[in-house]
Amino acid sequence: MKIRTAVLPVAGWGTRFLPATKAVPKELLPIIDRPAIQYAIEEAVASGIERVILVTSEHKRAIEDHFDISSDLEAILEQRGDIEHLRAVRAVADMVHLVTIRQKEQLGLGHAVLMAQDAVGHEPFAVMLPDDLIFGPTPALAELMSAYAATQASVLGVMRVAPADTNRYGIVDPDATLPTSDEGRTIPIRGVVEKPDAAHAPSDLAVVGRYVLSPKIFERLEQTPHGLNGEIQLTDAIHTLAQEQPVVARHFSGTRYDVGSPEG
Ligand code: G1P
Repeated sequence: MKIRTAVLPVAGWGTRFLPATKAVPKELLPIIDRPAIQYAIEEAVASGIERVILVTSEHKRAIEDHFDISSDLEAILEQRGDIEHLRAVRAVADMVHLVTIRQKEQLGLGHAVLMAQDAVGHEPFAVMLPDDLIFGPTPALAELMSAYAATQASVLGVMRVAPADTNRYGIVDPDATLPTSDEGRTIPIRGVVEKPDAAHAPSDLAVVGRYVLSPKIFERLEQTPHGLNGEIQLTDAIHTLAQEQPVVARHFSGTRYDVGSPEG
């Protein structure tokens, strides 16, 4: 089935960037010439996504405004004959069909994804964490989508990390009994562990914010107890899903930057 929808959780507080994020959502902090979240949405569109579901919270309305028509601004630019900026502003509003859902309590990434259940419906869908920017020859999500088309399995985007960093990511447990494909880049997995220390990490392949998930994940999320940090972890639900349906990791070819932290 075609992947049409991408869910972007954007309800977090952005505390790591205070005071910059006191009134401005962290997703709108500029990276070069556009707000951070626009990169993920451009990647989604370039990958063939038709509909983006933003899971937002209070104080995040400016994100919707960024992707909406700004009639006053457009009128002024038109009056001034500033066609270049008029086109740029209009292109952002025309970029994609956007649906917004409010997450009233922030109970974790898994909970945020569960909020999108009704809007997604019963079809496979993508999840993109807009803190993770990935640049490369092909859009990272498109690589995951082609792995999905080839395997019909749920797909997690992964990259290699140093042992000292496993405790910052979901780490996949490769299933060595099954063959890899795409020159070793698509790897069947048995499960995934959220933020293990090096001694308990099942591999050095870390999940980075790109997923293609079977709609079965919603049933698993409904049954997932609060996990690490008391949150409903998407990782835990994917681990349970992997016990009943195939899940693969896709080692994407681009380079990832973490714009959720000042160092990134
Ligand atoms: C989340 C996920 C984690 C994943 C990471 C990628 O963690 O829970 O599995 O590896 O995103 O950026 P967070 O960074 O929100 O703590």
